[in-house]
Amino acid sequence: MIIHGGAPLRGTVSLSGSKNAALPIMMASLLTAEPLTLRNVPRLRDVKTAMELLGQLGVAVRWTGEHDVELCAAKISSHEAPYELVKTMRASFVVLGPLLARTGRARVSTPGGCAIGARPVNLHITGIRALGSKIQFRHGYVEAHAEKLTGGRIWLDSPSVGATQNIMMAAVTARGRTLIENAAREPEVQDLARVLVKMGAQISGSGSHVIEIEGVEKLHGAEHEIICDRIEAGSMMVAAAITGGDVKISNAPVADLEAVIAKLRETGVRVEANGHGLRVARPATLVPIELRTLPYPGFPTDLQAQMMALLTQADGTSVITETIFENRFMHAQELARMGADILMKGNTAIVRGPSELCGAPVMATDLRASMGLILAGLAAETATELSRIYHLDRGYEALDAKLTALGAQIERVKDDSL
Ligand code: UD1
Repeated sequence: MIIHGGAPLRGTVSLSGSKNAALPIMMASLLTAEPLTLRNVPRLRDVKTAMELLGQLGVAVRWTGEHDVELCAAKISSHEAPYELVKTMRASFVVLGPLLARTGRARVSTPGGCAIGARPVNLHITGIRALGSKIQFRHGYVEAHAEKLTGGRIWLDSPSVGATQNIMMAAVTARGRTLIENAAREPEVQDLARVLVKMGAQISGSGSHVIEIEGVEKLHGAEHEIICDRIEAGSMMVAAAITGGDVKISNAPVADLEAVIAKLRETGVRVEANGHGLRVARPATLVPIELRTLPYPGFPTDLQAQMMALLTQADGTSVITETIFENRFMHAQELARMGADILMKGNTAIVRGPSELCGAPVMATDLRASMGLILAGLAAETATELSRIYHLDRGYEALDAKLTALGAQIERVKDDSL
């Protein structure tokens, strides 16, 4: 992807459905023999991977409209999530809970390492074991077996998003009551809980630290519209700010973006929020800030790379601390190649600005890092050449088209699209 910087972005952009909400919700289709109809599903590589995985398990899954997907697990024909799929998309691991709940057994590959950190699955396993499943690790796979899961009390060492989702789906048809304490509160966890409730589950407390689930006999079909992508929203907000533009986001989930709005305002960026959307514009000077990534409702780690790009333009020294993943600063070295002044100390990055960014060949290392580099490219004086953009296609729908419509000059020189 070649990014020609310098143009302030202006206009209105509309967000796609949230990838991180859509993926686990698609996996919830395993919990019922009846159809689950989803709207506002983003057309992304990861969604395609989830469809492939579910298809291999026997789920009939098809697009019924531009953003509509129907999934029907009338019969489940396999219990295995193979390494080939799980290694390309870690979120696949979340089939463990629903597959086990529906059929009494599951064989799911462990995901292995990841560019941004070790990302173990121990909390998923502890939780599912606490519901009475036998679990063995063999040949790189988790093999789970349970005649009938029973409710239990689970305290998560850290509020893992994926573990909370996996345990929730395992518990909805377990015998008795389950409590997940120190649960993740992310909007994507809440969206999954909403769908499960529509399917007949009894869940309370989602969005708080304690989720309570009263097991029911079985779930039924449902219809659901996926929430809009708060990470895409934050990325677009930074795009407006870093280019000195003025952008409206028509369908921004404002309530889910409180920490992001607060931090952008702290830098001096003007953010107007109303019930339906956001308008973002940048003042002449950006103020440096201190930023810590935290579980929701704190500032999301998935927007850390984008904020780092923005803070290279602030007038002074900013400090960014990454508390969620141990190795999520790969973009810092690439930003430095574009002229940024960033000093790394463990999980802290010290960003001294303002730097005059100039284009350079840079490499994407993960999904959000790619977005950070594009944003830096939009503020750079000369063209930036970003390679390995397949990371982007995993998680941003029609990104080039959306940015181009706002006035960005971006081209793909080799087509990596879906
Ligand atoms: C989800 C998001 C991802 C986001 C992350 C944190 C999806 C598909 N992905 O990932 O975009 O960056 O939340 O907001 O929704 N951990 C353990 N043991 C476990 C599970 C997690 O130690 O069993 C650790 C992880 O290594 C990490 C931290 O907990 O350091 C948070 O991970 P988690 O919340 O589980 O992230 P994901 O669900 O994988």
